[in-house]
Amino acid sequence: DRTSSPWTEDLRLAHVIADAVDAQTMTRFKAQDLTVETKPDMTPVSDADTAAEESIRAQLARVRPRDAVLGEEFGSTGSGPRRWVIDPIDGTKNFVRGVPVWATLIALIDEGRPVVGVVSAPALNKRWWAAEGGGAFTGRSLAAATRLRVSDVGTLADASLSYSSLGGWRERGGLDAFLDLTDAVWRTRAYGDFWSYCLVAEGAVDIACEPELNLHDMAALVPIVTEAGGRFTSLDGVDGPFGGNALATNARLHTEVLRRLNPGLDELALTPAER
Ligand code: IPD
Ligand code: CA
Ligand code: CA
Ligand code: CA
Repeated sequence: DRTSSPWTEDLRLAHVIADAVDAQTMTRFKAQDLTVETKPDMTPVSDADTAAEESIRAQLARVRPRDAVLGEEFGSTGSGPRRWVIDPIDGTKNFVRGVPVWATLIALIDEGRPVVGVVSAPALNKRWWAAEGGGAFTGRSLAAATRLRVSDVGTLADASLSYSSLGGWRERGGLDAFLDLTDAVWRTRAYGDFWSYCLVAEGAVDIACEPELNLHDMAALVPIVTEAGGRFTSLDGVDGPFGGNALATNARLHTEVLRRLNPGLDELALTPAER
């Protein structure tokens, strides 16, 4: 059937793990009984972040003992072609302030390609997921799912853009080009974190981008955006390996956005279809 893929069993497993972690993180979110520390990069991490990653790792070790794991809080363990990539809580700054926009991100990278992604946002009562070749969906469970499809918006003047933070553009360069892009679109909002990209997959936002984003922040988002018909690359148009920065669009707007963000972009680097 059109929803099955070679990674269907891995997708099912990611849902089962997300169900367990959702219960755990929701209890902590509601109670707000958190111990919050500041990392060397001055960002907050709570004991709910580390507990969530520990329980995901424990379940993976039990049922997928041969797979490697990369997580935000505990780094990289194991090696091999299959690697689970975890962001136990994406949106920690929201989580620790009682804002419901946070999610657990679980991805499987196989031979370098993000092939499974589950984004579970229990405080929003939302989940988004995809497996390569099997489509992208939203709903509360595999059984209750709606297929995701990006928008058909074809001009910047009609486009909605979402980002997370402005910091980073200055260091990367291109802050002016980004601000010009926000002037050119119909609407700009900072929905933030995973949410910008899930909204692209839903067709509610057309462009999401970020100058600083790690692999664990985006691995789950790549199959969700691409299986919904969108495109996910780096800010200068490279289709993986992922990590560093990110641009996701409804595909139609991708080349136009790349041109605006990279005024010096070599036309020859574009495929004929993109020129
Ligand atoms: C953060 C979010 C945010 C991005 C930051 C990340 P966290 O993740 O993904 O959108 O701009 O760079 O650190 O710490 O809330 O998982
Ligand atoms: Ca963090
Ligand atoms: Ca994150
Ligand atoms: Ca995190």
